[in-house]
Amino acid sequence: MDELREAARVQLPTIAGEFDVRAFTCGSGYIYLALIKGDLSDGRSVLTRVHSECLTGDALGSLRCDCGAQLDLGMRALAAEGRGVLIYATDHEGRGIGLLDKLRAYMEQEAGADTVDANLRLGLAPDGRRYDDAAAVLKAIGVRSVRLSTNNPRKVQELQAAGITVEQVVPVPALPHLRNQRYLRTKQDRFGHRNLIGDPPPAEHATQSIDVGSLLGSAKAPDGRPFVVLKYAQTLDGRITAATSDAGRIGSAAENRISHALRAACDAVLVGVGTVLSDDPQLTVRAIPGRSPARVILDSRLRSPLTAAVFSPDVPTYVMTTAHADHQHKRLALAARHIAVRDVRPGPAGLDIPAVLHQLCTEGIRSVIVEGGARVITSMLAAGAADRVIVSISPRILGRGIHAVGELHKEPIAGALRLDGHTVHLIGATIIVAADVARPSALPPDGKTPADARHT
Ligand SMILES: NC(=O)c1ccc[n+]([C@@H]2O[C@H](COP(=O)([O-])OP(=O)(O)OC[C@H]3O[C@@H](n4cnc5c(N)ncnc54)[C@H](OP(=O)(O)O)[C@@H]3O)[C@@H](O)[C@H]2O)c1
Repeated sequence: MDELREAARVQLPTIAGEFDVRAFTCGSGYIYLALIKGDLSDGRSVLTRVHSECLTGDALGSLRCDCGAQLDLGMRALAAEGRGVLIYATDHEGRGIGLLDKLRAYMEQEAGADTVDANLRLGLAPDGRRYDDAAAVLKAIGVRSVRLSTNNPRKVQELQAAGITVEQVVPVPALPHLRNQRYLRTKQDRFGHRNLIGDPPPAEHATQSIDVGSLLGSAKAPDGRPFVVLKYAQTLDGRITAATSDAGRIGSAAENRISHALRAACDAVLVGVGTVLSDDPQLTVRAIPGRSPARVILDSRLRSPLTAAVFSPDVPTYVMTTAHADHQHKRLALAARHIAVRDVRPGPAGLDIPAVLHQLCTEGIRSVIVEGGARVITSMLAAGAADRVIVSISPRILGRGIHAVGELHKEPIAGALRLDGHTVHLIGATIIVAADVARPSALPPDGKTPADARHT
């Protein structure tokens, strides 16, 4: 563990700015990198992150964990601060068990184990990482006291035990995704990690993490299609947009952050071509740190203009259309931009919703947040394809404009879609209601809900 030796030093330009990178070999044979920003010569109060190597998360963008997002955030935090260091620990892969055993542990997780039990089933330590090499590197570059960016209390204790003064612990914002929700919860419950999930959505001016877990619920879908959540913002009188085109946004800035956190938690965000034509949305995650999901546009006649913001090159994008839309030049232009164009069968309102969802499943998409507009929301509900709704209600009355949900051919009130498992949050003056859409088979034979029964 001793015999630390500096082996190389280079300037490394990255998307988070230029870093002075110093490479150290440790007695174990592993290489540690110190990505240094600014002048650390006095060695005091240095913003520091010790990042455990994770090939799948850091380099391949895996969503099984939050490592890639944390690395990205850590580097950007240093760039913003202008001074600090990120220690990249290459012997920490899979919490110290190495790449192959980490992949084997993933197989155990697929068989039902959580991230701790998976390691135990393989006869491996739940967390085999040590921090003495990281502490030695910090000392070698002259760092004496740190403001440590972590949610892991063990990291704090071990660095302190190895002679590094931790002046402050800087919590890392949670970046939950439906794919890693269980992993984050296990880290919280079994390793005592803090600030991962479970915080209530933020108040109007809060900048910290947003808990999207409670809004998204159990995220369970029937076999063969992704989990589908409908998300829209409406006024108190149920309008999702004004009748005029210069409508502006219905939700507040805080509500917008929650919308982006919900996007960041899902594999894909879906809208109809009507929303593309009227709003030209980007459908990316910008209001919070987080990864943008794939974008899906329902466009049976290929009406989306090539200049649409949803065709920006930064995010994988799917256009669902029909074989009848034979705009060959547009198909070629989209293909040239790596936009996936998929033909599915037509349905009553454009594309057949079950066929769209089946196609998404074959693309590996397991969760979709549907952000409108009214026609697509209505089609999803009519097709029985919505698992959850999340509605933001803004304290305004428009008087006219488009309603979120159109004709569903249900007899009020007994035939109304039933919503279960509600959660209600107040964000500033906006009410957010989230609930599961009851499956048709869950309705009692007479179609009456228990509440109806009580009132008859
Ligand atoms: N407040 C909010 O949260 C919110 C969110 C989104 C949008 N909006 C508003 O909603 C308005 C747009 O609403 P919209 O209803 O025109 O747009 P939309 O639902 O986004 O798009 C509807 C179009 O999608 C295509 N489509 C393909 N398959 C479909 C299917 N199975 N079901 C329904 N549509 C399908 C159809 O065009 P083709 O027949 O050409 O395929 C259809 O006309 C805008 O004013 C926007 O501002 C509000």
